[in-house]
Amino acid sequence: MQITKASDAVGAIVEDIDVKSLSDGQFAEVRNAFQKHGALFFKNQNLTPEDHIAFAERWGNIDFNRFFKQREGYPAIAEVLKEPDQQLNIGGGWHTDHSYDEIPAMGSILYALEIPPSGGDTLFAGMAAAYEALDDDMKERIKDLKARHGNAHIFGEESEYRKAVGDRYTNADQAGQTAVHPIVLTHPESGAKGLYVNPGFTLEIVDMEPEESKALLQELYAHIMQDRFHHRHKWSEGDLAMWDNRATWHYALNDYQGHRRYLNRITIEGVALG
Ligand code: SIN
Repeated sequence: MQITKASDAVGAIVEDIDVKSLSDGQFAEVRNAFQKHGALFFKNQNLTPEDHIAFAERWGNIDFNRFFKQREGYPAIAEVLKEPDQQLNIGGGWHTDHSYDEIPAMGSILYALEIPPSGGDTLFAGMAAAYEALDDDMKERIKDLKARHGNAHIFGEESEYRKAVGDRYTNADQAGQTAVHPIVLTHPESGAKGLYVNPGFTLEIVDMEPEESKALLQELYAHIMQDRFHHRHKWSEGDLAMWDNRATWHYALNDYQGHRRYLNRITIEGVALG
């Protein structure tokens, strides 16, 4: 097995290994790399839905996503699908999954089944590297702040985005919950400090005037959006990507109009964030 850093801020490429047959020792190595890099990209996998589920279950309990369409016969698997005639894609903006949950999901494991001839890359951003690069004044300013996250604007009945994505999302009636989390997260496993706000689901900073909250969030987002904190994953069919939602953002680029892109995603339960 070969593990190579994908960029300075986030991600590592894992080659010469079949995730179906990882020994306990290899799994421990992979787990360490995951904690260190926040995202892993396993090349050349050949997985049935059962294999995908079995690999996910080695990481923890599955968090059944209530808004994505499930793969038929496999409620654990969410379909990340864009058809050739669809304009908007799923995940087409910077976000981290499930931050609107009281106990946000640990991470997601995404398997590429059909990739367009060009385009459809996914960007990842490293939250620990972005936090470390903040100046001391900003670190001091945000150290005890909390932010509220929500999902009605994405998954709810009235969401323009949902209407545009069409029938790829379900259960609009279950949208609307919000959750409050620290802006600076001490990662529950690695202990590293990282930023935990995202443009997709963060609504506001708690106990702050709306204008100030908006300006501070925009400042943090502009900081994280610098290329130096990113890795761009160019997909091949058979790639299996795995990311830690508490340590990364991701952004599925929508630059392949007229082509089909189809991936399967399994999300793993997390723990309460202190
Ligand atoms: C997602 O946001 O989970 C989808 C990522 C992708 O399609 O690359």
